[in-house]
Amino acid sequence: MNFIDVMALIHPALAVAVVFPIIGMVVNFAWQTRQRRLQTAEAGGKSKIPPVVGQEHVKLGRWLTGSVVGVTLIALAYSIYFKGVFKDLTPEKTPQAIFIILIFLATLASLFFLYRAKPPQKLWRGVFAVLTGMGIIILGFQEGVFRRGYEWQVSHYYYGVTAALLMILSLAIVPDIYKNKNWRIAHIVLNCVALVLFFGQGLTGARDLLEIPLSWQLEYVNKCDWKNKVCPTSQSQQSINYSVASQGFPLDLGHH
Ligand code: HEM
Ligand code: HEM
Repeated sequence: MNFIDVMALIHPALAVAVVFPIIGMVVNFAWQTRQRRLQTAEAGGKSKIPPVVGQEHVKLGRWLTGSVVGVTLIALAYSIYFKGVFKDLTPEKTPQAIFIILIFLATLASLFFLYRAKPPQKLWRGVFAVLTGMGIIILGFQEGVFRRGYEWQVSHYYYGVTAALLMILSLAIVPDIYKNKNWRIAHIVLNCVALVLFFGQGLTGARDLLEIPLSWQLEYVNKCDWKNKVCPTSQSQQSINYSVASQGFPLDLGHH
């Protein structure tokens, strides 16, 4: 593997080895918190589930937000750095590159301050949550990011960004979930959606790993006709090269 391929592994490896185990723990505690509430809500109801499950859910939930936003930013940084303006940087593109670096730093700073905003600071929680989310969206618009717009229903990018935004929202409304029943219900419904999206990330991420070739194979794989699912043999190479070029086939680095 070349350096660029090893770099491409960082995001999926962290998602599998760090983020998904945390999701498992957070969901387990969420389920217990809910069951405990239902059991104790019954008249004279008692529950064998200890009361700490709620606190454990939130403690790990806070880690989950950071880790999901973290892997999202790593994926975006990889794509923008290796496939966007930073590749073949020219003086005209430098301001855009600086802008991107500043947005990255601002996004990280916003997330940091969102963690720091204490319960009464409703306004600041809102402001930093919106800024963190906006940072991710602006970075997602950059050149090099593969959004799969032609098949957005199964896009790893759109699922991932939506899930990250839902995690940011959860972190921002923690005090409201305790105080207000409507927020609590909203939290459950939205994060059940997030759970489905996370499952989708496992699926679409694994698919994308299958589709993206190693860097030294790219030149050859790009000669394939993805529509008709054929690759050139040595004899047919020239004619396929010609037909791909004449169709204006979108040769995106590693994508099709
Ligand atoms: C996949 C992700 C998540 C799911 C499925 C989920 C689901 C739930 C459920 C079912 C409850 C119990 C509600 C009840 O007792 O009626 C809950 C409570 C709560 N969640 Fe989450 N949640 C997730 C992530 C998060 C995150 C990331 C945070 C914050 C950083 C968070 C903060 C809270 C808080 C503060 C409570 C109230 C705890 C309590 O009543 O003691 N959750 N969540
Ligand atoms: C919490 C879970 C995950 C989130 C939030 C997430 C998010 C993202 C985002 C936002 C991108 C940016 C797209 C781009 O820059 O081109 C991306 C790319 C990528 N992710 Fe994930 N991801 C997650 C899990 C996974 C998993 C489990 C795998 C593989 C096993 C994976 C494999 C990839 C690959 C190969 C790319 C680059 C290619 C592409 O854009 O399709 N991801 N991810």
